[in-house]
Amino acid sequence: MRMDPISLYDYEARARHILPHNNWVFVEAGAMDERTTARNRTAFEALTLRPRFLRDTTERKISTTVLGTDISFPVMISPTDSHLNAHPEAERATARGAGMSNTLMMCSTSSNCSLEEIAEAATGPLWFQLSHRGYDLTENLVKRAEAAGFGAIVLTVDAPIPTPKERDIRNRYERPGEYGNFRASLNPAATADGVDASQAWEMPPCPPLTWRELEWLRSLTDLPLVLKGIRVAEDARLAVEHGANAIMVSTHGGRRFDDTMSSIEMVPEVVAATGGKVEVYVDSGVRRGSDVLKALALGATAVAVGRPLYWGLAVNGAEGVHHMLEILREEFNRAMAYCGQNSVDSLEDRLLNIPRNWGPFRTENDIADHLPL
Ligand SMILES: Cc1cc2nc3c(=O)[nH]c(=O)nc-3n(C[C@H](O)[C@H](O)[C@H](O)COP(=O)(O)O)c2cc1C
Repeated sequence: MRMDPISLYDYEARARHILPHNNWVFVEAGAMDERTTARNRTAFEALTLRPRFLRDTTERKISTTVLGTDISFPVMISPTDSHLNAHPEAERATARGAGMSNTLMMCSTSSNCSLEEIAEAATGPLWFQLSHRGYDLTENLVKRAEAAGFGAIVLTVDAPIPTPKERDIRNRYERPGEYGNFRASLNPAATADGVDASQAWEMPPCPPLTWRELEWLRSLTDLPLVLKGIRVAEDARLAVEHGANAIMVSTHGGRRFDDTMSSIEMVPEVVAATGGKVEVYVDSGVRRGSDVLKALALGATAVAVGRPLYWGLAVNGAEGVHHMLEILREEFNRAMAYCGQNSVDSLEDRLLNIPRNWGPFRTENDIADHLPL
């Protein structure tokens, strides 16, 4: 009998066999030479944990809250588009899988299902990821997300213009299914100028997204705002000044822009710049429970995973997403025990060894010297 996958890498290997080649590449690929995608992993791997023993860690608290929402452990689902690439039930299955693990799913503006359909299928908390495509489309999406009970708006800021990935261009990749959120019946704004909704969505150039649009968005909704893709101290400070409630440090999995630092390397800088005024999350390259502890040790409240959700979906739909998350939970729990930690709320300092050439800044003193706050 074939064994169930026992790690996220097992899920990745199986998904590779199952998925049509072009769908597989769409999920895996990064921008240009894919150096940032690779760095997202190597930067996690370069960090090592400092085990602590001879403590009673039989009771470990790994549940936490993100913007006041309870999640059973500090791992969420990143917003990613077109889950039809991996499963016929698309985002509905992902939402059920996340719910089974009592954690939160962020839903992409570019999902195959509409946000209302996902909300109906979901059993756990949802946040709505917003890609700004002009005031009318955005207002329509935000109001619908409010009405459907989404708990926060996650505004993606690190995709100012489209960036087709080279491997997708070579494959002549074609996206499966529709843009569920832009059906004319749901989003009349998208057809106002006679353009059909999905064309309006895909048509470059994208309208600018600046701090001015952020102020407008802040006035449009009372939902908490998470800025996804902020990576440097200067932008992190501006985000706080403009009323953001949280920051998701992200490189978009290295899919948009190459030759930057990895996400995890930018966490210390963003945490220092925001000084506890907002929650900080991180995604890009999280594959092991020990990565979760490393991120928390650097000051993140929680992490999120993108590609692994497609692997879970491809292998076993909602159950696969659930099981993929449970593997991470088990590994994280084990890392807590081996580092002598009883609670995510009171992790002790000095849980990590940080190599000398890791990231732009290694210590709080480095950060203070280079980026006076
Ligand atoms: C196939 C795919 C589609 C994605 N689509 C979106 C999207 O629509 N909006 C968005 O903000 N990020 C999108 N992302 C980026 C993810 O939210 C996340 O930042 C990234 O996947 C994290 O890296 P990881 O895949 O290494 O976990 C996408 C990522 C993947 C892999």
